[in-house]
Amino acid sequence: MKISDALELISPRLPTGTLRQRRLRACHTVKDLRTAARSLLPSAVFDYVDGGADQELSLETNTSAFERYRYLPQVLRDVGSPDTSGNFLGRPAALPLGFAPTGYTRMMHPEGEPAAARAAAEHRIPYVLSTMASTSLEDLAAAPGADAADRWFQLYVWKDRELTRGMVSRAQSNGYRVLEVAVDTAVSGKRLRDVRNGLTIPPALTLGSLLDIASRPNYWMGMLRGEKLEFANVRSDEPGGHTIEGISDQFDPTVNWEDLARIRDTWNGSLVLKGPLGPEDAMRAQALGVDGVHLSNHGGRQLDRTVAPVDLVAPVRAAVGDSFGIFVDSGVRHGSDIATAIALGADACFVGRPYLWALVAGGEEGVGHLVRMLTEEFTRTMQLLGVGSVQELRARGPELLHCHEPAVMRTDRPGQERKSPRWMSLNN
Ligand code: FNR
Repeated sequence: MKISDALELISPRLPTGTLRQRRLRACHTVKDLRTAARSLLPSAVFDYVDGGADQELSLETNTSAFERYRYLPQVLRDVGSPDTSGNFLGRPAALPLGFAPTGYTRMMHPEGEPAAARAAAEHRIPYVLSTMASTSLEDLAAAPGADAADRWFQLYVWKDRELTRGMVSRAQSNGYRVLEVAVDTAVSGKRLRDVRNGLTIPPALTLGSLLDIASRPNYWMGMLRGEKLEFANVRSDEPGGHTIEGISDQFDPTVNWEDLARIRDTWNGSLVLKGPLGPEDAMRAQALGVDGVHLSNHGGRQLDRTVAPVDLVAPVRAAVGDSFGIFVDSGVRHGSDIATAIALGADACFVGRPYLWALVAGGEEGVGHLVRMLTEEFTRTMQLLGVGSVQELRARGPELLHCHEPAVMRTDRPGQERKSPRWMSLNN
């Protein structure tokens, strides 16, 4: 090769775009977004997002439960124009994916809830605003761009029922389409990372966090420049006020099915229950006129050692029939996880942490990057499976999916473990 030919091969690539764009271009997976978020957040804030309750066993098994499933694709089926559109209780979406409610989103990034909702609107997927949000339900409804999203509101039933009723009517008058009642928070889960880190909300400038300023200057600059952080759905003079302790004190362990019946009577829109629901609870909700269930263990942040929500999809679908809404979250980290959930019988999935990490890594642009990444992964999975649409994936799911159980299983005799993986068809 002549030197001039060799020189042609060397084309120095100068970095292009903003720092944010370059950071996002380097993120090819949800795990990459998590790593980027870790490098940008103070460790206590990163742990607040990342951590789970107690021994974090639910947190751990949420992702490994998805990874136990294996596909048996069907070939030669013309998958030239796959249709990835989903349906959320009668409203079409570009993808069977939504953003789950997360409290205090502006602590992760000053653009906060409106940025996540705008990205959801742009990509035509639903966004659920939390009771614990740092943007009020009125402000989100009025935020340019975010107002166009399929907006849901997640409700905690509080000790002060007047406050709860007030939130339901505010959600109604501000155009929220779906009310999602979280039923996994009779009391607050114990997140040991937060306890050990001494996390306060809003984060306090302690000696530890002052040291942090040196290593995460952009985070602190963003927080100091941004609006005051508060639980925006509650006025500071209302019970619960503006502190995490005050709000957690409002969780009511006496909440029961009668409260739900009252909410059903007052709420005119679609109603969904969010929590780790088994077939019996799901049937009871259905009988009460609830429109769907959002199977979730709060991303492993409430009761530890719960069944992984993805494993509840098939039994709950068998119990409630074809037309009842079933959504699932906790551990969705790849487009193929969405495909697995649908093949098991879900209508759609939600994600929590992945969009928060994306928000930290790149604000609204980062959240868009995540949706494009998951869309691409989901589309490719559908094509390689040999299915042309989400409906087809759900209908043919049992033929395409097998459950792989890599765990060491005990035989009848103690001390003798079967180490080889067992393959089990879901039809069995
Ligand atoms: C949550 N989640 C949650 N759920 C809810 O109903 N109300 C809330 O205010 C919050 N807040 C919240 C904060 C943070 C930082 C996280 C990570 C999660 C739970 C959330 O809606 C969802 O169920 C889980 O995040 C789903 O699991 P993955 O996707 O994070 O694994």
